Amino acid sequence: MKLRANVVFQIGSKIFGYFQRYSALSLSVVQNLLRFRNHLFLVLANAHKGQHPPALSVVRRHRQREHTRWGNSSPLPHTGANLKPALRCLEKTSMAELRAKEKNLCREMVLIANVSDYEELAKQKLPKMVYDFYASGAEDQWTLKENREAFSRILFRPRALIDVSHIDMSMSVLGYKISMPIMVAPTALHKLAHPEGELASARASAAAGTIMTLSSWSSCSIEEVKSTGAGIRFFQLSVYKDRNLVQQLVRRAEKAGYKAIALTVDAPRLGRRESDIRKQVFTLPQNVVLKSFEGLDLGSMDKTNASGLAAYVASQVDSSLSWKDFKWLQTTTRLPILVKGVITAEDARIATECGFAGIIMSNHGGRQLDYLPATISCLEEVVREVKGRVPVFLDGGIRRGTDVFKALALGASGVFIGRPLLFALAVDGEAGVRNALQMLRDELEIAMALSGCASLKEITRDHVSTESDRIRRSRL
Ligand code: FNR
Repeated sequence: MKLRANVVFQIGSKIFGYFQRYSALSLSVVQNLLRFRNHLFLVLANAHKGQHPPALSVVRRHRQREHTRWGNSSPLPHTGANLKPALRCLEKTSMAELRAKEKNLCREMVLIANVSDYEELAKQKLPKMVYDFYASGAEDQWTLKENREAFSRILFRPRALIDVSHIDMSMSVLGYKISMPIMVAPTALHKLAHPEGELASARASAAAGTIMTLSSWSSCSIEEVKSTGAGIRFFQLSVYKDRNLVQQLVRRAEKAGYKAIALTVDAPRLGRRESDIRKQVFTLPQNVVLKSFEGLDLGSMDKTNASGLAAYVASQVDSSLSWKDFKWLQTTTRLPILVKGVITAEDARIATECGFAGIIMSNHGGRQLDYLPATISCLEEVVREVKGRVPVFLDGGIRRGTDVFKALALGASGVFIGRPLLFALAVDGEAGVRNALQMLRDELEIAMALSGCASLKEITRDHVSTESDRIRRSRL
């Protein structure tokens, strides 16, 4: 009986999931499917009396998916004792509510054609405070917009009649082979987007065969993220005034198998994000902490009049950090150290001379100093200065595979993605992040094929033209 109920439930769920994704069903069909599924839940509960671990895991997974997709705020069942209340809660959800949610879900599924589509859906789904925290830039948000617009001013110069029947976009970063030149930027507090937080992002990045950079301000700890299994990970470091603490963090990352440290240098103070300031409420919900600092008494933020995060940074982060501290940082670890947040040739030269293993060009996604140029506009200046001595990566405003292609053509070794993955995480958890990375990969593949490039090394400067190229040519 137990076995049969389990099998029936699994088959029922599969059929239901299939219809959810792929069909524009009439409401009556959806209604019947929902009834059928609820019935299966009950059969399962009766058969196992809440004591059967495999059955429990099926129910838990199912509830968790609902929690994610439907924004249900009821707690997830974690023990056998919680199973019955969870089932009662599901029963109590009226058919009308389920139908409305299901209708939204069907609409969401057909709406997503590119990574930017996730933003609109995330906006509807997330509390306003969280959406604003993720989406906003500093002050007038000029840099935030410019990060996007600068890409639209770079055009293609494709080559024809080249064999592009097989496209290879694999590459190495610091000696680690990855599947594509698209990596995951460090962004804080993924649990504000989804209950699984950075664990979901880590699984999705590993599945995509790419690197995830874990923020110092993650809501899952360095060790928790490691426990998700294999995957190449970097650790982003924000240097605190307490250097012992920094040393501990770096050692923990090294012990947990992270492959590099990305030292953020563009945030000695937090930029003024006015949406946070106006609402005067950016503090962490009770269930979200800066998990790697838990137990060190630095895991939570106080409520203050201005943004809680800005106050936290001002009190904890070492704004006296300078180039000479790099030597000290090197003594704390054998890992290669990348510098994140450089956008000028002058700083790129110092970084290379100091011995940084690579440069991540970044203006923090337009969240720090406003009226910085777009990172893509500064790329060639930095690449020219570095002359291939270390790899130069770039983030900021990348929303399309064509943007990735343009960055590679202008000399980047690879790119990092920030907000789009947070929004995808908010909308559909791990599956959302996987899908977003896959869409960017697919778009890059098409851009390569249509430009006549079968591998990354075939992408050259001549495949794109910038505004200054066009002005120069028009003068000839
Ligand atoms: C960030 N970023 C960031 N950078 C960093 O070094 N440490 C951090 O903790 C964070 N946290 C963070 C939170 C949020 C919500 C955002 C949007 C960004 C900056 C991030 O690494 C990256 O530089 C930008 O996000 C890249 O720009 P796009 O892709 O978001 O346009």
